Amino acid sequence: MSDETLPRSTVFRQMVARMRRLASDTPVGLERWRMCSTTLECGAGKRRRITAAWMRSSRSATRAMSGRRGRRAVVALCRLFAVLMAPALIAGPAKADEAGATIATKGTPAGVPACVSCHGAQGQGNAIAGFPRLAGLPAPYLRAQLAAFASGQRANPVMMPFAKLLTPADIQAVTAYFAQLPAPALPKTIPAQTGPGAALALGGRWSEGVPACVSCHGPEGRGVGITFPPLAGQSAGYLKAQLEAWQHGTRPPGPLGLMKAVAGRLSAADIAAVTQWFGALTEGADK
Ligand code: HEC
Ligand code: HEC
Repeated sequence: MSDETLPRSTVFRQMVARMRRLASDTPVGLERWRMCSTTLECGAGKRRRITAAWMRSSRSATRAMSGRRGRRAVVALCRLFAVLMAPALIAGPAKADEAGATIATKGTPAGVPACVSCHGAQGQGNAIAGFPRLAGLPAPYLRAQLAAFASGQRANPVMMPFAKLLTPADIQAVTAYFAQLPAPALPKTIPAQTGPGAALALGGRWSEGVPACVSCHGPEGRGVGITFPPLAGQSAGYLKAQLEAWQHGTRPPGPLGLMKAVAGRLSAADIAAVTQWFGALTEGADK
């Protein structure tokens, strides 16, 4: 992103301010979504409609903002928000190419084992073993992670050697394959709306510059566009390890350093609470 030249702290501060306004201004805001999620009579259908309305109103707020002339940082924010609010609609279903399916299910001649042996037959992940979900994650995000493992910037002893053995063509094919797999189903009931985990996930802590996680990762942590990966469907243990990796500098800062900034503002207790909350948004977690 060319926005890389902007001072990250400025971008982050302005982004937080903008999100705070967005969360309170939008006619169908986060608040309403949150209220709907707290009432039992508000079923999945209604929740979906409110979610869609929230996305729509957020999009028009984004459009209004991009008409304004401002400093470069504001322009950068608009661009980022355009990405943020562009739902997966524009991505379209990527064509599952055979080479990708072969790598995923059989591995490569260079010695990379089948991805599904760890990441699950449907790419749904394996919570107990700490293998993340790959199904339905955006292909550019998956590619960036493989590049980070290969360069060692994302320091993980299991994935680093595999990523190094994948060719650029392998990476292109296998990430397209996992990106087009359907996201695992969400549990029927969403986790408790009270307690410290829910508070951070749904409301953030604006006083310390921590926006609500769902303001970037989408309602129910389902992921937004190609920049914000889903948190739903990932285990609490995996999510916790990622936040700690940002704190320890063993995962690259990612787009605009957003997650490094967020993680840096969280205490160990915050991390435990918020990752348990999102970890409960995994199929089977409500059974
Ligand atoms: C031996 C088990 C194993 C195999 C085989 C494996 N992975 Fe992984 N993978 C992991 C683990 C463990 C992690 C979590 C790493 C971390 O915590 O940073 C991971 C993480 C990832 C991530 C990051 C996901 C995210 O949400 O950021 C991607 C992308 C990935 N693997 C792709 C692949 C692909 C593609 C293959 C096959 C070519 C593969 N993996 C094979 C164990 C495995
Ligand atoms: C300002 C936007 C923003 C906010 C707010 C935000 N995130 Fe993120 N998050 C991102 C971006 C961007 C990425 C992708 C990072 C990358 O590409 O390396 C990400 C990635 C993640 C990941 C890694 C997912 C994976 O598959 O490995 C975790 C875990 C995460 N965020 C947790 C959280 C939690 C918990 C909160 C709330 C406390 C939160 N995020 C708030 C932007 C945000």
